[in-house]
Amino acid sequence: MSVHARLRHRLLAVAAALAAVALLLTALSARAGATGGGLKSLAEAKGIYFGTALTQGNLGVPALTAVAAAQFDMVTPGNEMKWDTTEPSDGSYDFAPGDQIVSYAQANGMRVRGHNLVWDSQLPSWVSSLPSAQVQSAMEGHITTEVTHYRGQVYSWDVVNEPFNDDGTLKQDVFFNAMGSGYIADALRTAHAADPGAKLYLNDYNIEGENAKSDAMYTLVRSLKAQGVPIDGVGFESHFILGQVPSTMAANLERFTALGVDVAVTELDDRIPLPATSADLAQQADDYAAVVQDCLAVSGCVGVSQWGVGDADSWIPGTFPGYGAATMFDSDYQPKPAYGAVVAALGGSATGPSASASASAPPSASGSPGAPAGGCQVADSVDAWNTGMTENITLTNTGATTLGAWSLVFTLGGGQAVSSTWNAAISPSTGQVTATNLSYNGTLAPGASASFGFQATQTGDFAAPASFSLGGVSCVG
Ligand code: XIL
Repeated sequence: MSVHARLRHRLLAVAAALAAVALLLTALSARAGATGGGLKSLAEAKGIYFGTALTQGNLGVPALTAVAAAQFDMVTPGNEMKWDTTEPSDGSYDFAPGDQIVSYAQANGMRVRGHNLVWDSQLPSWVSSLPSAQVQSAMEGHITTEVTHYRGQVYSWDVVNEPFNDDGTLKQDVFFNAMGSGYIADALRTAHAADPGAKLYLNDYNIEGENAKSDAMYTLVRSLKAQGVPIDGVGFESHFILGQVPSTMAANLERFTALGVDVAVTELDDRIPLPATSADLAQQADDYAAVVQDCLAVSGCVGVSQWGVGDADSWIPGTFPGYGAATMFDSDYQPKPAYGAVVAALGGSATGPSASASASAPPSASGSPGAPAGGCQVADSVDAWNTGMTENITLTNTGATTLGAWSLVFTLGGGQAVSSTWNAAISPSTGQVTATNLSYNGTLAPGASASFGFQATQTGDFAAPASFSLGGVSCVG
């Protein structure tokens, strides 16, 4: 080989190596991009949405809205569109609270599930004490006014909420007592007339598996369809108890879609008897993954919504005393194992969930599974080469209580970008990041340590990370 040929040969080899590196970098950044958009982008890639409930009060909590905007693309007002808020007295309407939620959703590119029009709960007493002869016109007036107000702005309406008893009989509420079972068809027709573009749902709980109540809902939807009543979907609230996601859920969702309606998981939470152990959080991760897998398995399942953003916002502790920790985010808005399990169920990288879970969230007064009641110590070591570095970190719980999960916040040097991780999930990849335990190393007894690390690209600054904190408490170096 001549000198020139050898040089050309070498140049070609260098070019090929550079091309391979470029490909690898593209693949890595594509992977990061998939999870960098939160649950919503993973869900969208699968053709579904991922939603949350939000209340007016939630909108004033920056740590909460940061997670909401990063993770979710559908919003259900927690209370603001219910009858007691929207028409507290006969004919006098207040849409300001609901409007605020809709504005927030629109400003953040999220759609809205309208919730709800007719329900025996959160119903003002002027309705429940009406003489029977006046109930139909009150109901129709309420539906027409509210649906017209939000016309074109909501994706779907829960037209009738929770109409059934657990034994599959219809509740004998003021609507049933005045109009019989026909109130449901009447409500759907009235809503359709006011906004023909909104998807109209019936929504209920304890209908997720095959049982007497879901059989009754199925029979009702089949008969509404047969009569040509406008019904587009059934909402499965999915307020589960730990370890009790029904094994028949996918099959049950599927039989509803065979009637020609969409199905959606509308109010998902998974309550744990408190205090939650790390085994409980692992079971909860399995439960959340199962629900998402069930929805993905059914082509007519349009999306999954969690009821509230984090454990601090959940209705569970107030309604089911002794239970809590029911959502994917702890009370500091740090992702729990359930979050990673949902990322994985949606086809994302379990080791790189970009929670964007607001590392700046203030610690809650009550503490959380990730908040040390005491402190933390961090030891780390860095190995660098011209364009890269590896970093090993050991976190020690110097507090007095066992942590069930941990999320360590720290700041990377300028120009450093995490490309792979071990023993923790780290997100985002630059700047202030959060390292979260994986399913097997979340429990840290007092004095115990967990080691994890990452590889990063760097452009000259290969200093070790700084400003470590756990649950808002700075760690000792
Ligand atoms: C709950 C809200 O989250 C609470 O704030 C309120 O006090 C009671 O209602 N099924 C539903 C939701 O359809 O509207 C309920 O929301 C939870 C159960």
